[in-house]
Amino acid sequence: MIVTTSALFKHAYGKYAIGAYNINNLEQTMGLFQGNVQSKAPFIVQLSKGARQYTHKLMLEAMMTTADQIFPDAVFAVHLDHGDEATCLDCIKSGVYSSVMIDASHEPFEKNVEITKKIVDEAHSRGVVVEAELGLLKGVEEDVSSEHHVYTQPDEAEQFVKLTGCDSLACAIGTSHGAFKFKGDQKLRFDILAEIQKRLPGFPLVMHGSSSVPQDEVARINAAGGAIKGASGVDASQFLGAAKLGVTKINIDTDGRLVWCRVHREFFRDKPEKFDLRDPGKIFMPEYAKFIAAKNVLLGSAGQLDACRALAKAESGCGCGCSCGCK
Ligand code: G3H
Ligand code: 13P
Ligand code: ZN
Repeated sequence: MIVTTSALFKHAYGKYAIGAYNINNLEQTMGLFQGNVQSKAPFIVQLSKGARQYTHKLMLEAMMTTADQIFPDAVFAVHLDHGDEATCLDCIKSGVYSSVMIDASHEPFEKNVEITKKIVDEAHSRGVVVEAELGLLKGVEEDVSSEHHVYTQPDEAEQFVKLTGCDSLACAIGTSHGAFKFKGDQKLRFDILAEIQKRLPGFPLVMHGSSSVPQDEVARINAAGGAIKGASGVDASQFLGAAKLGVTKINIDTDGRLVWCRVHREFFRDKPEKFDLRDPGKIFMPEYAKFIAAKNVLLGSAGQLDACRALAKAESGCGCGCSCGCK
C-alpha cells in the first residue's frame, strides 16, 4: 500500500521515527521489503537522482509498484531524495512517487522559498507531498558541498514552513552524509529541534545523514580487504529522543551500503573460486532484511504497521488501500 509520508508522519509524530532507506537495485528492494514486513514497520523508500540514473528511472518505478504487489502487507511511501526542480516535477508526474524532496537548501532563503513553493503547488495539485530543507549539512549533499554545518535557524524554519506550505522539513543539526560524520564525539544540536518544535508544534521534521556506521561492520569489511579508516556515525540511541522532538523521518543510506560491501567482500574472500552474482546476492538479501528489521527497533517503528495502516486507510476515506487519494 503506497501512502504519502504525511500519512505515516501522522501516526509517528512524537512517538517514533519512520526509517527512510535509499535503494538502488533489485536485491536491496527485496531485502528492504522483507525486513520491514518481518518487523511490522511502515517505511519510506528513498530514490535519489543518482539511483534514478544508475539503471533507469522507469526500472526503479516499476520495482516499487511490483514490490507493492509482492508484499501486500507493506505500508510505504515512495520518496524522491534530494531532488532538484526538474526531477521533482518528473517524479510528481510519474504517478508512482507519493512524496518528493525539493532540496534548494544551497540557495539564499528567498530563492529556496520561491523554488520550494513552486514544487509544493505542483505536488499538492496531484496529491503528492513535499519535504524541503533549510540549513546545510557539512560535506556533500547531491551536487553541492559545504565545508561547515550551517545549522537551521528556528525563526527561519517557522517562516519558511508558513511561506512555502511544505509538508515536512529537513533540518541541519550536525549530522552529515556518508561514513565519516564526526571527528571525536558526536555533537547533535537537539536544542535546535526543541526550538523548532516549540514554534511549529506537530510539524514533521527530518534528519538526514543518520547512518550509525557500525564499527563491527567496518571492522569486518576491513578484515576482508577493505580500507575504510576513521569512519563514524550517529549514535542510534538518540533516535527516540529526536522523535520526541518532532523528527518523524530518519534517513539511512550508508549503513545499507556497508552491509552490501561486507557481504560481498567476505563472500569473495572466502570463496575465491565463485563468480555467480546470485551466490552473494542470496546472502545479501536476508542480511539486508535483518539489518532493516534491527534498525526499525531502534527507530521505534517496528510493530507499528497495523495501527499505521488502519490510520492511513481511515484518513484516505475509501478504506480500501487503493490509490484514490490515499496515495
Ligand atoms: O543523500 C544522499 C543519499 O545518500 C543518496 O546518495 O546520491 O549517491 O544515491 P546517492
Ligand atoms: P547517510 O549517509 O548517513 O546514510 O544519510 C543518508 C541520507 O541522508 C539520504 O538523504
Ligand atoms: Zn540526505
